[in-house]
Amino acid sequence: MHYSDELIEEIREKNDIVEVVSGYVKLQKKGSRYWGLCPFHNEKSPSFSVNGDLQVYHCFGCGAGGNLYTFVMNYENYSFPEAVKMLADRAGVQLPEQEDSREQRMQENKRSRLLAVNKEAAKFFYYQLRTPHGETGYQYLKKRELTDETMQRFGLGYAGKNGAVLVNYLRSKGFADEEIQEAGLANHSEKYGMVSQFWNRVMYPIQDINNRVIGFGGRVMGDGEPKYLNSPETPIFDKRRNLYGLNYARRARSSNIILCEGYMDVIAMHQAGFTQAVASLGTAFTSEQALLLKRYTDNVLLAYDSDGAGVKAALRGIGILREAGLAGKVINMQPYKDPDEFMKALGREAFEERIRQAENSFFFEIRILEGQFNMADPEEKTKFHREIAKKLCAFSEEVERDNYLTAVAEKYFIGAENLRKLVIGYAAGTGLARPAERPKSGVRPKNNPEENAKQAQRMLVTWIVNEPAVYGKIRRYISARDFTEELYRKVAERLFQELEQGSLRPAGIISMFENEEEQREAAALFSARLPGVENGPERDKAFRDILLAVKKNSYEYHVSRMGTDVDALSRAIEGKKALEELAKAHISLD
Ligand code: CTP
Ligand code: MN
Repeated sequence: MHYSDELIEEIREKNDIVEVVSGYVKLQKKGSRYWGLCPFHNEKSPSFSVNGDLQVYHCFGCGAGGNLYTFVMNYENYSFPEAVKMLADRAGVQLPEQEDSREQRMQENKRSRLLAVNKEAAKFFYYQLRTPHGETGYQYLKKRELTDETMQRFGLGYAGKNGAVLVNYLRSKGFADEEIQEAGLANHSEKYGMVSQFWNRVMYPIQDINNRVIGFGGRVMGDGEPKYLNSPETPIFDKRRNLYGLNYARRARSSNIILCEGYMDVIAMHQAGFTQAVASLGTAFTSEQALLLKRYTDNVLLAYDSDGAGVKAALRGIGILREAGLAGKVINMQPYKDPDEFMKALGREAFEERIRQAENSFFFEIRILEGQFNMADPEEKTKFHREIAKKLCAFSEEVERDNYLTAVAEKYFIGAENLRKLVIGYAAGTGLARPAERPKSGVRPKNNPEENAKQAQRMLVTWIVNEPAVYGKIRRYISARDFTEELYRKVAERLFQELEQGSLRPAGIISMFENEEEQREAAALFSARLPGVENGPERDKAFRDILLAVKKNSYEYHVSRMGTDVDALSRAIEGKKALEELAKAHISLD
């Protein structure tokens, strides 16, 4: 799976980054850039910028950045070849035929091998369920009132009692024992050889947002232990970053997403028409999953079990949603245990009513809290009020806090003024309820010389790529060696070379780097915030200051290395000369 650099560049240039990103993030034009809420971290005001001229993106909040490929890989969780394929399709570029010989398949990277073995296993389980060997599983699912259509939609399957059949099947498809093991489908032991991990269970293939099977959940037939067995974490199965059913829920066109606890809940909900239901993967709900949900909705409804464990999990989930900037509401399942049982007993319309009545997560928390205190005892009642005040402090926005305060005071018959005093007292004592932290701006006054030097280098590069004409005026003063960070130097080398040839392609430069960390650093070089001054002497001065800062730093850097680096002396001398010249020169940008 190797494409030429030219082809990769061609595909990139035929797609517009602003258009592609707009498909995922709501962007607004401001000045020469587009801005939106960053999909890679939680934020309330936009610090995610996309530059259509340069075809790069950069987030001033979390530092995410890169070109079109980086974006698609990060957002869709694609490998590089997958991103190439998607963008080629999008732009109508024909990719050269890839022969799918067994040799080549063996050479493909590990991720795609693991995906392939999972897909094959899913097929195997799927067919098993539909043969006489799978009768137990099929009857079980029927008893749980799933239709054939639902079973098919979720690709449900069955792992039989003979643990060798799956392994032999996968071997016959060209998979090595190591691969089968690494996918978590079988274990090897001295005594028994390769033995299937799943045994006598109905199988739920777990798909990522792009419908690829990344793991399995298996439910035991009857009362065996454990009730659910899940694939272990593998290079393709990250339980923190995926959600069961999200591949369907993301296309559900619903204004909300319903978060359930179990696979069966999700399936029952979808069967009843609530295709916006998802569940975590046999582990507790995570902040990564909350951010994932936030890409698709800001309205998450919790449909957790109504028992004690479910309430506890819901309270935890609410906290995680809130941290991700999602409010969250709680659906009351009483008197039933979970969405699956509710749906069977009362059906779709009754559930719709429950959705309408879903409780604001703050009130849910307070209601659960109330149950822990004896309201007949003034002492306990006061404690309860104090706890409310404490919770109110978590709202950083004053208007919001006050709205909740008024509402909760009314609901629990507390004097609003008294409650406000409690809140103020509590906040003063703990330093809570301060105004929310301002979003970090690109130019942070830092007293860190190294960071300042890097900042100047970023600003210089950003300036040049936005206004390539200035390069001609400064090329005699500057060279890639003035960039003291190795990655910066590499970027500058390529950049100056392209400028000399009159073929500047900043987004292409990012593709030089293979790892994500390097790509984001390179993107940051093209995305610095520049001083917002009008054309004229002030702007000339601003530019000159940046250039001088870069030269000065470069000079000092080479001086400091004169003891160890033989070339440093000559570079220092050159640098000194350039600095002196620069001090006299007048650089006019217009
Ligand atoms: N789970 C798990 N391992 C277990 C038990 C539960 O991974 N031993 C996970 C599964 O993802 C399951 C979810 O927790 O779907 C909810 O568990 P539970 O409420 O016990 O299961 P139900 O979905 O109600 O399962 P069923 O209806 O099949 O009994
Ligand atoms: Mn259940």
